[in-house]
Amino acid sequence: MLTKAPRGTKDLFGDEMNAWLEMEKIIRDLCKDFGYGEIRTPVFEHTELFQRGVGETTDIVQKEMYTFQDKKGRSITLKPEGTAGAVRAYLEQKLYAGIQPTRLYYITPAFRYEKPQAGRMRQFHQFGIELLGSDSPTADAEVITVAYELLKRVGISKVKLHINSLGGPECRKKYNEKLKEYLKDNLDHLCETCRDRFERNPLRILDCKTESCKKIVSDAPTVLDVLGDECRAHFEKVKALLDEMGIPYIIDPGIVRGLDYYTKTVFEFISTDIGAQGTICGGGRYNNLVEELGGQPTPAVGFAVGLERLLLVIEAENGKKTYPVTKDIFIGSIGDAALLKAHSLIYQLRQAGVTAEGDHFNKSVKAQMKYADKIGAKYSMIIGDDEINNGKAILKNMETKEEREVHLDELVTTMKSIL
Ligand code: HAM
Repeated sequence: MLTKAPRGTKDLFGDEMNAWLEMEKIIRDLCKDFGYGEIRTPVFEHTELFQRGVGETTDIVQKEMYTFQDKKGRSITLKPEGTAGAVRAYLEQKLYAGIQPTRLYYITPAFRYEKPQAGRMRQFHQFGIELLGSDSPTADAEVITVAYELLKRVGISKVKLHINSLGGPECRKKYNEKLKEYLKDNLDHLCETCRDRFERNPLRILDCKTESCKKIVSDAPTVLDVLGDECRAHFEKVKALLDEMGIPYIIDPGIVRGLDYYTKTVFEFISTDIGAQGTICGGGRYNNLVEELGGQPTPAVGFAVGLERLLLVIEAENGKKTYPVTKDIFIGSIGDAALLKAHSLIYQLRQAGVTAEGDHFNKSVKAQMKYADKIGAKYSMIIGDDEINNGKAILKNMETKEEREVHLDELVTTMKSIL
């Protein structure tokens, strides 16, 4: 146990960490281009936030949250997703008082107690954006373009955008009745959780992962059948915007999302390359959440991308990337005085942005040069007593084997000019 990380978690390091950093850099540049500012909210929040926000009848709240009592007996939950915390902060920090709409993004760990498998972790990471303050279909389309552009920038092309509309409260009421009518004869065949959902939130049954429930709902009526005029017009506008922007999509009434806060547009980006957990991005409009959490009625729309899944898709399409180790210079030494000089030069070089390394193991010159090769040093230099006395040493180009004499007090400028 001591040397084993908990199930469903992962250490990130080496080349995989480099791939993450590259992905995160693309995300940050993307958010800058689209005008989204970063927000960091706590990893844990009061449990009620998620019960209210994500919804009491969702799998997340009913089965998957990491909830515990702190030392004062308060119920605390590790965030299972990023939206509820971002909306809580939007209200607490009065972001609604600033220029509207509010555009936020986050890269955050999230926690769900699910059965781990490829692309499904207990601690995973989300990149998400939230656009708060506008009910315009242009906001829905903008949010979708951010996700679409991300996929383009990370170099993946085979992921498909599925869109649907869940309508507003009125359409939902109508739909719930229609769905209940459809399900009522099969009530006994639903799982226990869904039997409870039948009264409280029948739409959730469509998202149940139990095989028997899945079978029963496979021919259920869809929300699209009962959309009211306003919601239908909104959905048509979103589609027209996507058409105009050249973003292909599939209308998929099966997209109902696993969280309760959605209204109107919902969407997922789905890959068929990484197995069962192919949804790499999910989101939609959530016009009632801000009010549900105590704010003024405020329309909003957003999405989250699972970064583990995104990386799986990148690797499935483009292969695993390797990041060769390289250093600008290795400075070896012979003797105590040279060791001091070498390490002082290394520090000077590093301050100037030149990647430099030296010996930390008291190795022989031969072994030091072997190490210089291993770390991919472009240049090397060995300093001994003579070099210190003359103030000069030989700088060797490790690739061409070319050598030149360099004044030690000019090493930084020399390196800056030749790199
Ligand atoms: P979600 O669909 O629950 O939506 O999660 C978003 C993405 O997080 C999923 O598409 C998936 O890629 C990733 N994900 C979820 N669970 C796991 C897991 N156990 N392991 C690995 N990846 C996972 C939300 O969380 C909403 N907050 C999205 C949103 C933002 N809607 C509006 N704004």
